[in-house]
Amino acid sequence: MDHILTLATEEVKKIAATADEPLRRKMIDTLRDLLYMLETPEETMQRLILNLGVFNILSESDGPLSLQDLTARTGADPVLLGRFLRHQASLGYIKETAKDEFTANHTTRNLSVSNIQAGLIFCNDILGPSFQAIPSFLAERKYKNPTELLDTPFHKAWKTVDSMYTWLDKRPRETAVFNQFMHAQRSSVKNCFSFLALYEECRDWSSGRGAVFVDVGGGTGQQCKALREKFPDLPGKVVLQDLPTMVAKAEALEGVEAMAYDFFTPQPIKGAKYYYLRAILHDHADDKCLEILANIADAMTDESTLLIDDIVVPNQNVSWYVTQTDLAMMVQFSATDRTEEQWKELLAKAGLEVQKVTTYTHAWQLSVIAATKAK
Ligand SMILES: C[S@@+](CC[C@H](N)C(=O)[O-])C[C@H]1O[C@@H](n2cnc3c(N)ncnc32)[C@H](O)[C@@H]1O
Repeated sequence: MDHILTLATEEVKKIAATADEPLRRKMIDTLRDLLYMLETPEETMQRLILNLGVFNILSESDGPLSLQDLTARTGADPVLLGRFLRHQASLGYIKETAKDEFTANHTTRNLSVSNIQAGLIFCNDILGPSFQAIPSFLAERKYKNPTELLDTPFHKAWKTVDSMYTWLDKRPRETAVFNQFMHAQRSSVKNCFSFLALYEECRDWSSGRGAVFVDVGGGTGQQCKALREKFPDLPGKVVLQDLPTMVAKAEALEGVEAMAYDFFTPQPIKGAKYYYLRAILHDHADDKCLEILANIADAMTDESTLLIDDIVVPNQNVSWYVTQTDLAMMVQFSATDRTEEQWKELLAKAGLEVQKVTTYTHAWQLSVIAATKAK
């Protein structure tokens, strides 16, 4: 397959070398459409920052719709709508089938998924102003790498002294959008429970031994639910921990105990088989991570394993998907994504030893780092 791709690339390069302006333009559009055709909905979301109900209308329609139909369905001014639709078509987000007639393509359908739209709203409305604040924020701080949780481009943009989670806590609409975004981000990527042999490793774990799995900062219970679905017979308690307002929104799940808990305080569940942190530590700079890890390490026994489900940044040739996430962590929390060496160093400082690193997605480099107490 690599050989075929190399041949195709060489052919494209040969044509490009002698292409006149119309052909060059056509090649750009064709290659762009090819690229977009390969995208999953969350990749489209991650790349784009826009929102318009028209994507749903076109995706739900059996065939092309005229500008007149779309005007009637949206209530928008036809001149205004036409200008936006032609722009969307020029970017490849929808397809223009005739004069003033449009239809859905692969990207339109990706953009019509409700959680993906929430992700776009979060990126556009909340992260957008924070990213725009980067140049002046960095200039004012003499281009130092940000490390303060409460002094970030997000704080400058939103004129707040709250951490982003405290800020969200006071805003139900934004919290709902954030939670949908969290679901959307991983909607078509593999779940780590598809390859972790948790059931086999917990055969000797009797229910009487307490919690088998503690999801620390588990949101509204998405991974606890996935765990119970994948391993219905897992012995012992599964515990979901998050801040009180988040736990209050968690759906009641059979076999899952929801507990309000702040991970900067001592971990109340001692000696669980697994402690699990997904997308938690990349929200924090090293000093805060060490506080979170110390609380978990103090609760672990020699039989406990910490599973960190997060990005492991490659040392070279990092994809834009990873670099963009890393910058988003900087903008919101003065935090960072980490390479394998950085993870090992951080965990060693917390008295933990990495036993295994399994990277399970390609573009985003999502990985499970299994760590135990250092001997
Ligand atoms: C990026 S989300 C990840 C949610 C979930 N682990 C997942 O992967 O879908 C971070 C989570 O950490 C929670 N959180 C933030 N600060 C916390 C704290 N001090 N104690 C407990 N949970 C916290 C947030 O409420 C949010 O649910």
